[in-house]
Amino acid sequence: MPNTAKALKSFTPAPESTSPGQFPAVRMRRSRGSEAMRRLVREHDLLPRHMILPVFVEEGLSERTPVGSMPGVFRETEQSVAALAKSVHDAGLGAIMLFGVSHNKDHVGSDSLRAGGLLDRMVKRVKDAAPDLLVMADLCFCEYTDHGHCGPLSPCGTTVDNDATIENIGRQAVIAANAGADILAPSGMMDGQVGAIRSALDHAGHEGKPILAYAAKFASCFYGPFRDAAGCSLSGGDRKTYQMDPCNGDEALRETALDIAEGADMVMVKPGLPYLDIIWRVKQEFALPTFAYNVSGEYAMLKIAAQAGSLDYDKALLEMLMCFRRAGADGILTYAALDAARLLQK
Ligand code: PBG
Repeated sequence: MPNTAKALKSFTPAPESTSPGQFPAVRMRRSRGSEAMRRLVREHDLLPRHMILPVFVEEGLSERTPVGSMPGVFRETEQSVAALAKSVHDAGLGAIMLFGVSHNKDHVGSDSLRAGGLLDRMVKRVKDAAPDLLVMADLCFCEYTDHGHCGPLSPCGTTVDNDATIENIGRQAVIAANAGADILAPSGMMDGQVGAIRSALDHAGHEGKPILAYAAKFASCFYGPFRDAAGCSLSGGDRKTYQMDPCNGDEALRETALDIAEGADMVMVKPGLPYLDIIWRVKQEFALPTFAYNVSGEYAMLKIAAQAGSLDYDKALLEMLMCFRRAGADGILTYAALDAARLLQK
């Protein structure tokens, strides 16, 4: 039994000095009486370093463009991302996560596999602008394939070819690492992808670069706005043959165990809000640095509810992010990272 559970079992409140039979007026409330008292007994905190900003970089754009389904989020140009990277660094966020929006798509996603391609250029651009900022490179093919799947299709054309994808993802990892990415984050949910990336990185002299595995990534409708932003909606089918079934919790632990065995240094659960139980279980089970992805649909729910006057955006945002911390997340990928950092400075 974890220590906290033991402590709770043996918790017997002190007898109260009230007349017999009368329930004491205050007990738990004594430690909630003022902001100073609440601050003293607070169990968790949220700091800018706990947040990672996901950013879309689109090639060939003349100016940064709002994403309609995600109010307040933009597709950056290859130029504008430099200023954004500086503000992410100045705000003290933990890292930036980069997603390319490609205009050179093909069946394989080869634009992400060559030096001089979008993946290579955007990582370099951000590293040049903010050398001390940690850059995470999302490794996947759906932003670079013309069919929108997370890897090349098998000859029958109906499913993603696992072996071909993991061979390619190893090459993609080396492109990103050569460009200066500090952390490689595979999100494709192919079997064996973490091992393939580790060995490709090691062979290319990047033994020191860690892998953040999207270990438990569910086939979720909450990715809808992302697919709009990144231009990676599927031309047909769905991602259920590689992403996890939202009905499963034990399977998330098996997925995570495999990624750790293959060499993951950090793990991620995605989506976040409807999956706080998975974050909790993964953190309790493996005690590895554990990240939660507060995905595009979760951001849109909050932002659009606030615009409609149903919620106070600032308060709801900080409460939501704190709940990720309470569930065991060491860090949160969130489109609201800069908003939250600004609010925390107040
Ligand atoms: C790419 C990827 C997706 C997201 C992150 N990386 C889309 C998907 O798997 O369909 C979603 C992130 C979000 O919704 O914010 N594989």
